[in-house]
Amino acid sequence: MENNNTCWTMPRIGDQAPEFRAMTTHGKLNFPQDYAGKWKILFSHPADFTPVCTTEFISFANMQKEFEELNTQLVGLSVDSLSSHIAWVRNIEEKIEWDGNKNVKIGFPIIVDLSKAVSKLYGMIMPGEANNACVRAVFFIDPADKIRAIIYYPLVLGRNFEEIKRVIVGLQTADKHDVALPANWTPGKEVVLHYPTTTEDVEKRCAEEGITCSEWYLCTKKL
Ligand code: BEZ
Repeated sequence: MENNNTCWTMPRIGDQAPEFRAMTTHGKLNFPQDYAGKWKILFSHPADFTPVCTTEFISFANMQKEFEELNTQLVGLSVDSLSSHIAWVRNIEEKIEWDGNKNVKIGFPIIVDLSKAVSKLYGMIMPGEANNACVRAVFFIDPADKIRAIIYYPLVLGRNFEEIKRVIVGLQTADKHDVALPANWTPGKEVVLHYPTTTEDVEKRCAEEGITCSEWYLCTKKL
């Protein structure tokens, strides 16, 4: 990292993703510039060689191709060293059997953040939970490098990877069709129309085929 004096910050949804340079298991990274035009999932884990993190890495690795098909790149991070990351990845690939998985290749880069500069820049350290390790943070960053969603999990709870994929697919669907997505939406389910701004909007959508309005403010349609 270039700047060891980074303040503790907490990026918010709608902010531009903070820029940083760091070393990773795949070489030097200039973030987010190196992923121009792509969606990015930047995630932190508490520590290498820990059990829940190992199951999460296997889960991310198993879904990496699905994310790439969604134009989405995965980037991991913890405050461990490069040699620790490399040794842990090799150990997972060679030794770990879990939930029917064996010899899973970890194909995404892991950021080395010994100085905690990136963890602090992204608000990944929550001292009430752990002073010297990241929580399980997930930042969803769009091709324009804007932070679109953030999920935090505590140390004892592994992430839900179907939800992580649902967030990417949901954001891409909302952008593409200019719609919103209701509770528990999954691909194929009806979507929600944006809040109407004029009475003409309301009249138009009530008359439009394929749109169902339960009330003037809750209209749904199939894509
Ligand atoms: C784990 O990944 O298993 C873990 C890491 C840090 C604290 C507690 C659990």
